[in-house]
Amino acid sequence: MMFTSNNTNPSQFKTALENGGCILNPDDISLISKLKNITDLICFRYNPGSRRKGNKIIGNPVESKYGVSHDQIIEAYCQSIQLGVKRFGIHTMLASNELNYEYMVETTQMLLDMVELIHKKLHITFEFINIGGGIGIPYTPDAKPFDLDSMANEIHRLFKKFKNLNGWVPRLYMESGRYITGPHGVLVTSVINHKNTYRKYIGVNASMSALMRPGMYDAYHHIHIHAKEDCVLLEKVDVVGALCENIDKFAIQRELPDTVEGDILIIHDTGAHGHSMGFNYNGHLRPKELLLKEDSSIELIRRAETMDDYFSTLTFEPETLTFSVNNQ
Ligand SMILES: Cc1ncc(COP(=O)(O)O)c(C=O)c1O
Repeated sequence: MMFTSNNTNPSQFKTALENGGCILNPDDISLISKLKNITDLICFRYNPGSRRKGNKIIGNPVESKYGVSHDQIIEAYCQSIQLGVKRFGIHTMLASNELNYEYMVETTQMLLDMVELIHKKLHITFEFINIGGGIGIPYTPDAKPFDLDSMANEIHRLFKKFKNLNGWVPRLYMESGRYITGPHGVLVTSVINHKNTYRKYIGVNASMSALMRPGMYDAYHHIHIHAKEDCVLLEKVDVVGALCENIDKFAIQRELPDTVEGDILIIHDTGAHGHSMGFNYNGHLRPKELLLKEDSSIELIRRAETMDDYFSTLTFEPETLTFSVNNQ
């Protein structure tokens, strides 16, 4: 298990080591001196700067807050060696929701090049390279799924070449989140209002507090209306929640079948960054989560939040804080 973080409070490193024996993956050289009782294994998150392009979610590497810069990475391993570290890994995470498998192959090549460079300078070998997450899923109906087989074949070729040249080879780690969970969740909501002003609005009983990707990233999530899949009469609408934020829209100017109150909307691909990114602004509480099992049974795996949950942090022993003005 890797502990990847940024702007880390040193106490979090301590907890990661104490409770899980995680591999620490600091993302800045300045953190090395703050690591007390460092383990014998360390990994750094590498940021290649202008050598690579990122994307909208993670940011352009030169502007992104993540990772140790190219100029600092050798020094970071050098300082770790001086502290007695003996085992090493290298990590990066440059793109998110990337559908082009070649990007991941280039990332692998980049880390293998770094491993070779650091090995030449410091004579250390690497137990693993970790190319992060970032494998995308086809959110839009016309998008092509990520070509996992081609990525695997190309990466295998790079590893074989590395082994032939160096006589040793690191392991490959990945930390795919969206690819595994994203397509396997939906947000189910129903129509509660229709509004006809400058645009047509379908008001639903979920808000961006249950799915913020459309508002945050302008992201497309496919929507279908239950039992109206074959409807050919479509109209352009905005599908909206009830938050006092104009970005609280699940779809903007989307062609959907005519709806009536009570119609059920299925918002696709919400298994990643749905509930986990949820919040409760404006008192809109997070919904329950249901698991559809292989035998078609359904299990409640998280109850809906209640008003008691919402106000729970206001229940505590009253305390009055005072301050004194001290001229010294
Ligand atoms: C460091 C790190 N690793 C892995 C992931 C998972 O990425 P994805 O869901 O794109 O595979 C993230 C997500 O933001 C991340 O920040």
